[in-house]
Amino acid sequence: MERSFIMVKPDGVQRGLVGDIINRFEKKGFTLVGAKLMQVSKERAEKHYEEHKERPFFGELVSFITSSPVFAMVWEGEHVISTARAMMGKTNPIDAAPGTIRGDYAVSVGMNIIHGSDSEESAAREIALWFSNEELTSLDKTI
Ligand code: CMP
Repeated sequence: MERSFIMVKPDGVQRGLVGDIINRFEKKGFTLVGAKLMQVSKERAEKHYEEHKERPFFGELVSFITSSPVFAMVWEGEHVISTARAMMGKTNPIDAAPGTIRGDYAVSVGMNIIHGSDSEESAAREIALWFSNEELTSLDKTI
């Protein structure tokens, strides 16, 4: 079973979109296996976005993600990595289709509400960076 790291960014938390985003993933049929509201350290933000280190917007990205709390989650389910990306919509909200999270709620590529792992490798790396094993559990659905 696949797992993906999904994070509601500071703009999504401040705009009160956490509940809606959780609702979308639950209704799709995915299982929440870890979640926490947290203030991100500069060190964690730089590690998370290390592949963008050379990009001109790297500093802006790190300062935005550390500016106020994020809601970090791990979701589990069949094809959750690619399906979550489809539910989020394109990175630049201008290109994100209506009905997707970014298509419905965002207008700016920097403040685009949500992050989701883009591959199995990224998911494994990001889950290990953001969560300890003790913070992850799996609800055995019997009802
Ligand atoms: P995310 O999925 O979190 O991964 C990298 C982030 O970089 C991306 O979402 C965008 O929010 C951000 N990003 C990409 N391009 C730009 C840009 N030109 N200016 C600012 N931020 C950007």
